[in-house]
Amino acid sequence: MKEYLIQNAKTFTGETVTLKGWAYSVRKSGKIWFLLLRDGTGIMQIVITKTDADEASFDIKDVITQESSVIVTGLIKAEPRSPGGYEMLASKVELIAVAEEYPISKKEHGTDYLMDNRHLWLRSKRQHAIIRIRHTIIKAIRDFFDDRDFTLMDAPIFQKAATEGTATLFATDYFGEKAYLTQSGQLYGEAGAAAFGKIYTFGPTFRAEKSKTRRHLTEFWMVEPEMAFHDLDMDMDLAEDFVSYIVAQVLEHRRPELETIERDISKLEAIQKPFPRISYTEGVKILQENGVEFEWGNDFGAGDETIISSQFDKPVMVHRYPAAIKAFYMKRDPENDKQVMALDMLAPEGYGEIIGGSQREDDIDAMIKRIKAEGGSEEDYAWYLDLRRYGSFPHSGFGLGVERVVSWICGLKHIRETIPFPRTITRLNP
Ligand code: 4AD
Ligand code: MG
Repeated sequence: MKEYLIQNAKTFTGETVTLKGWAYSVRKSGKIWFLLLRDGTGIMQIVITKTDADEASFDIKDVITQESSVIVTGLIKAEPRSPGGYEMLASKVELIAVAEEYPISKKEHGTDYLMDNRHLWLRSKRQHAIIRIRHTIIKAIRDFFDDRDFTLMDAPIFQKAATEGTATLFATDYFGEKAYLTQSGQLYGEAGAAAFGKIYTFGPTFRAEKSKTRRHLTEFWMVEPEMAFHDLDMDMDLAEDFVSYIVAQVLEHRRPELETIERDISKLEAIQKPFPRISYTEGVKILQENGVEFEWGNDFGAGDETIISSQFDKPVMVHRYPAAIKAFYMKRDPENDKQVMALDMLAPEGYGEIIGGSQREDDIDAMIKRIKAEGGSEEDYAWYLDLRRYGSFPHSGFGLGVERVVSWICGLKHIRETIPFPRTITRLNP
């Protein structure tokens, strides 16, 4: 049987079709009643009159409640005054299940309450729009790499050693052995770059972030490209192509959703390459010129990132950070031993870091020194060090956090609305 979805109404205008969904709202006035039907793809006004519908269908108005499930059949016509631009003149309405009093009414609720009811809140217009934008961002991510000769090579979730420091590791028992949930697929991605040239890993990553912020989840999705024979400049070229492509795809395919959430679209239209590139040292200067007492060598905090990124109306790429504040696998800057060939991309409008990446250390001795300095052992990283033993090669990559990007593109106040069921220090349910 042919399936009719509200979002495709244009293709079946003038036909009599059957739609299935839930009552978003009901309005009655004498011999006519109106049902806003929500089918998961859109909302359509259904008009039910005594003349066009049978009596049983008409009488459903007396029992139907918000979120009751229904099947309706009728004639579709264009109606510019209706939400979505189309409406149905119903000949038949079938009530499948009457919903109990819906906990999320049209009145304002607090965020905690809404998050406790996240399984229901997802049905609301705004949340629906955000998740559909997320979908388009993820599709753009895959298309971008698939169209550029990258091979998808996923990394394991259970891992034996830390990639991004031990402070945020989630440990679990693995048949009597200690395992950690992945913080990043990168080390495995590097093995992939040696096997396939250009790869990307894409999956959930986990970090025991102990502080409550509007930028941190404990479970988030990260895409990580890794490319053989790419230096830091090539890494930045790819990062800027990638982010401008994602934004363009959202603008092309999700304009109605951006309008639903009242995003300032002109801000997104400004995201065209090239993006500005500054060194960490230049970033420090910007802070000092803006009256921040900041010493070279410290890490940028959220407030510092906001000051730096607010100088630009596009994402800014900050490169060459102090080695001491960056991960062990980053390549030393051949021109300054205190620095590593790192790259962070900071989104505009105060959204902070959306990408972290680097050129990787390809010298085995330098790498062993860093591992030991951080309290790790050569043994923990034995297979990873093999990549430097058997045909070491210059290579680079980065990780982009999906939820950070959704948050920025949607202009959200908090990262918790960017993922269907967020996990934070205080939330494991629903
Ligand atoms: O900067 P990070 O820690 O870099 C890495 O994990 C590298 N191994 C990536 C690579 O080079 N292959 O994390 C990368 C990105 C950040 O820029 C941010 O967008 C996101 O992951 N991220 C988080 N997103 C949400 N919640 C958190 N707790 C996040 N931590 C990092
Ligand atoms: Mg980072």
